[in-house]
Amino acid sequence: MLVDGVAHRTIWLSDDGESVEIIDQTLLPHAFEIVRLTSVGETAHAIKTMKVRGAPLIGATAAYGIALAMQADGGDDALDRACETLAATRPTAINLRWALDRVRSVLRPLSVQDRRDAAFQCAAEICDEDVGINEGIGAHGVDLLRAASEAKGGAVVNVLTHCNAGWLATVDWGTATAPIYRAHDAGIPVHVWVDETRPRNQGASLTAWELGHHGVPHTVIADSVGGHLMQRGKVDLCITGTDRTTATGDVCNKIGTYLKALAAHDNGVPFYIGLPSPTIDWTLSDGIAEIPIEERDGTEVSEMTGRTADGQIETVTITPKGSAVANFAFDVTPARLVTGLITERGIASASRDGLLDLFPEQG
Ligand code: MRU
Repeated sequence: MLVDGVAHRTIWLSDDGESVEIIDQTLLPHAFEIVRLTSVGETAHAIKTMKVRGAPLIGATAAYGIALAMQADGGDDALDRACETLAATRPTAINLRWALDRVRSVLRPLSVQDRRDAAFQCAAEICDEDVGINEGIGAHGVDLLRAASEAKGGAVVNVLTHCNAGWLATVDWGTATAPIYRAHDAGIPVHVWVDETRPRNQGASLTAWELGHHGVPHTVIADSVGGHLMQRGKVDLCITGTDRTTATGDVCNKIGTYLKALAAHDNGVPFYIGLPSPTIDWTLSDGIAEIPIEERDGTEVSEMTGRTADGQIETVTITPKGSAVANFAFDVTPARLVTGLITERGIASASRDGLLDLFPEQG
């Protein structure tokens, strides 16, 4: 995607061929800074502290983390240690385990000398595949927006999204946003309601930033506003991302997604998920019982960071001293509340049969 007219992905191999560069997402929207990763430790730290975040990008970054580890030491122990370190960074997004399993299975049969180059190649392939997958989600999802606009006589389609499932959460294009960018580029009039997404404000800070750079009309709203808008006919459809979707179509995504799905259900608003296939956990069938939900530091709830009028970035406390805080990062939306899963192979119903129709090789 373009940032100030310059094409960017969210992760790439440095010119030196020995390190990896990322955008430090903790600084957006106030500063656009590129950070260089040179070791598996730095990579794990970048994922844990959410310099990079979003399920597909976490997976791609972890793959490069293995490559950086193999550059230092290509032995079996180093490979296992690197996988363990990276796997421990964030528990919910299945793309992390998916990417680690994939790279490890490529490297295991190889000689120690061959592992470094093979790991970098595998990480690059994962990145390129992610871009292709998201283009596929865009190609299928745009039909929903076109149909919604045509049903309104060509009027603006209002899409509500939660968190950031945009290009910053992937290698490029995004999942939930891919149909939006595609529609905008095709001249379909689209406007996006952007949930701020407390506590880390991925909507207000990241989704709004990237939509703005692409010129997509959008409005940031407080997390509690969506139901009100839906009651008044101001949302035509919702599209969110997912960190892990079960084989039965239960969707785990950023905390608050479930409440939006309930409101959508009550108001007859279609609720879609942008779902790349590496985010499907084919081993699970009950999202509420089986998906591990990340709990993060309470300061993300008790504090807020922003830019003051004189341009300083400051963090302030917003809760009384002594009040307990809890910070659950994800929730599960049961399949029955999901209208459809927009995958790279087409739109599936949120059910085992629907997913197996599109991915019969998993049967
Ligand atoms: O905690 P985050 O910012 O990593 O959470 C991100 C999300 O919940 C996204 O919606 C999800 O990863 C899908 S990204 C295409």
